[in-house]
Amino acid sequence: MSDNNSKGFSHASVETNNFLMIVLILIAVAFGGLVEIVPLFFQKSTTEPVTGVKPLTALQLAGRDIYVREGCYNCHSQMIRPFRAETLRYGHYSVAGESVYDHPFQWGSKRTGPDLARVGGKYSDEWHRVHLNNPRDVVPESNMPEYPWLLKNTVDAAAMPAHMKALRTVGVPYTDEEIAKASEDVTGKTEMEAVIAFLQSLGLALK
Ligand code: HEC
Repeated sequence: MSDNNSKGFSHASVETNNFLMIVLILIAVAFGGLVEIVPLFFQKSTTEPVTGVKPLTALQLAGRDIYVREGCYNCHSQMIRPFRAETLRYGHYSVAGESVYDHPFQWGSKRTGPDLARVGGKYSDEWHRVHLNNPRDVVPESNMPEYPWLLKNTVDAAAMPAHMKALRTVGVPYTDEEIAKASEDVTGKTEMEAVIAFLQSLGLALK
């Protein structure tokens, strides 16, 4: 045995003992993780909304659900990175305080299509209606799928109050009145109207 090993707890004994190595790595990673992650739960910049960010209205929220249902996030991120090429194209980079009411957030990283974090107000409602019905009608080279059924389906109005209550339990400050009139607000609205209302709400606070 070398001198090194005979001293008991040495570098060599850690590197040659799988179990000890695994335990020590877990402790190191857990500690590093705690130091990086825990402060984020207490910082104002990550826990409080930036000025102007409000919870989605019932119609916008219904649109967000359809956005998730249709898998729009498979091709669209909602996260502008703090690089010049990104901010020139999409506007101010995304900050955590813009997403505090997003459950689950739609940041993503896959971009077959453009980032949508600040698409609100970029086009008219009519442009979106034509585009979602058949993207090639406005962007001939587009490979985005068409979503014609959004025009025919109506929003599930009865589901909205329970949905908003669930979001309230995770910190979205919906009032009792907003929840009470949620169903009425979206009754008879098409899924197209809801998705467009959601898209038009995106990223306005820091525009
Ligand atoms: C298969 C990938 C794919 C999916 C899924 C997809 N898109 Fe797209 N989207 C694209 C591409 C590519 C473009 C760029 C060409 C165009 O404008 O059609 C685009 C463009 C857009 C634009 C215009 C953005 C801009 O700044 O010009 C919007 C808005 C949009 N998509 C919304 C949606 C919504 C809402 C859904 C889900 C209902 C969706 N997309 C699903 C690929 C996709």
